[in-house]
Amino acid sequence: MTPELLSLAKFLVSSRAEFALSEMNQYLSRRYEEKDLYETLKPHFFDLELFCDTRYNCRKLINRQLPADEQVIHELEEMLKAPWLPLYIEKLIDSYIERSCGKDWHTGETARILRENIVKQKEEYWRGSSKYPKLRVITYLLYHFPVYFCQFQYLLLDLLKGGLLTTKMSIVDVGSGPGTITLSTIDFLHKLLSVYSKKGIDIKLNIKIDSIEKVQENIDCYKELTSLYLSKHQHENASIIVNKPVNSPLEKAQPVVGADLIIFSNVLAEMSSPHAERARAVEKLSSGSLNPTVLLVEPADLVNSKALRITQQALMNRGFTVYSPCTFLWGAVCTGGDCWSFREEGNIRVPDFMRKIAGNEEAYRYLNTDMKFTYAILRKDGAVKQKYRAKGKFARLSTLKKHLKKRINVAVSVMSGNLGDEKTFVFKICDGTTSVPCYAVIPAYHKNDNNKALLEANYGSIVEIFGALVRENEEFSSYNLLINRNTIVEPVK
Ligand SMILES: C[S@@+](CC[C@H](N)C(=O)[O-])C[C@H]1O[C@@H](n2cnc3c(N)ncnc32)[C@H](O)[C@@H]1O
Repeated sequence: MTPELLSLAKFLVSSRAEFALSEMNQYLSRRYEEKDLYETLKPHFFDLELFCDTRYNCRKLINRQLPADEQVIHELEEMLKAPWLPLYIEKLIDSYIERSCGKDWHTGETARILRENIVKQKEEYWRGSSKYPKLRVITYLLYHFPVYFCQFQYLLLDLLKGGLLTTKMSIVDVGSGPGTITLSTIDFLHKLLSVYSKKGIDIKLNIKIDSIEKVQENIDCYKELTSLYLSKHQHENASIIVNKPVNSPLEKAQPVVGADLIIFSNVLAEMSSPHAERARAVEKLSSGSLNPTVLLVEPADLVNSKALRITQQALMNRGFTVYSPCTFLWGAVCTGGDCWSFREEGNIRVPDFMRKIAGNEEAYRYLNTDMKFTYAILRKDGAVKQKYRAKGKFARLSTLKKHLKKRINVAVSVMSGNLGDEKTFVFKICDGTTSVPCYAVIPAYHKNDNNKALLEANYGSIVEIFGALVRENEEFSSYNLLINRNTIVEPVK
């Protein structure tokens, strides 16, 4: 890139509403093909705030919130209803495995080794630590990648609904592994652009994605998958640049400058350090950005799920606020202790490569399809998803002891799907005032129009409950609020 080209591009962006790349030749000492100008300037589009379309017409890209009206959201929700890995991602992974392990990777000795590694990786993973020798990246792709790819799009949808996605974004994927989050994000943005096109909404995107990862094998895989993907799938309304990953432990990486969205997906649990240290690392990385959205995601198992809430609390002590899923309904902030709460989004369709490795014997050991995850969306500006606050007519959950065996009214967030069965529905509830676990319990025969709003509540949404009976569950050191046919449950919009 000659400085002459860059400064001319800067000048044209600031002085013209629109210009054609060919016009640059009027001012240059030598003539360039438009295609060459495009390729040379492309890595700088983000910093130049420039968008050039496929006919090489360029204009300044104004950063603004991505439209998220009801129709757009409805279309996207429909797309995410039956989640599956897009075919081109599936093929990308299939051919990566084939290149690494040979054409017959799913048969014979190679398949045996891969299966053995999937099981080992699962066991290590649940203990919250995982090493990644070479084969591990392949088993990760086979077993973990599909679910994590699909579940992340629900969080992006939440950000879109909340106005936290904009036309020009710098995104950082921390602990990027083989590129799950980067690829999922690009795919989501492509889906969104296709919805905009269908609805006749003119939106151009300028996106820059950086990543930090400590293991070289994962970086190699990340680079290969993302560059192959982008070389075949460019959207005409998007300029998406994926930069070379930073090879470093996240604790030692420099703060990321000017990021809008920083994602730690399934990485903090791999750090052996205590929660305060994890929070310090997240805070340090985010400190170079004015007001980024920081997204923490972990698996739903007891250990990792509870650990995330404690790290969340440590980050709150460092000035972050929780956008979602927690709502501190009385303004008081909980300790984050003993909180096992996760979101469930059903099952993904089994990708072909997963089915191939699962084979016919004990296939269930190699199939991973259910989306259950713990997450926190954090901000520095106090933005919250739910602005609702409880008032005097409700009891705080911290006062349940003195209401034992009485009927009370509460305002709570629903912090789980049904943890019971079809005979008894059980939901974790929280109002941010206590670390003692509390549950709303409805026997199926009491379910009716008065109380069904509890069963229909989305994860993290708020309901007002009128007339629930307080019971103590000594065995589990928790409280149950018993809901019968006379109890009224009202959703808070
Ligand atoms: C479970 S994988 C998650 C990959 C991807 N983010 C996802 O959600 O699928 C964890 C990744 O974080 C990386 N990792 C673990 N500890 C790290 C650290 N301290 N700094 C940077 N990367 C780390 C691992 O090498 C691995 O690639």
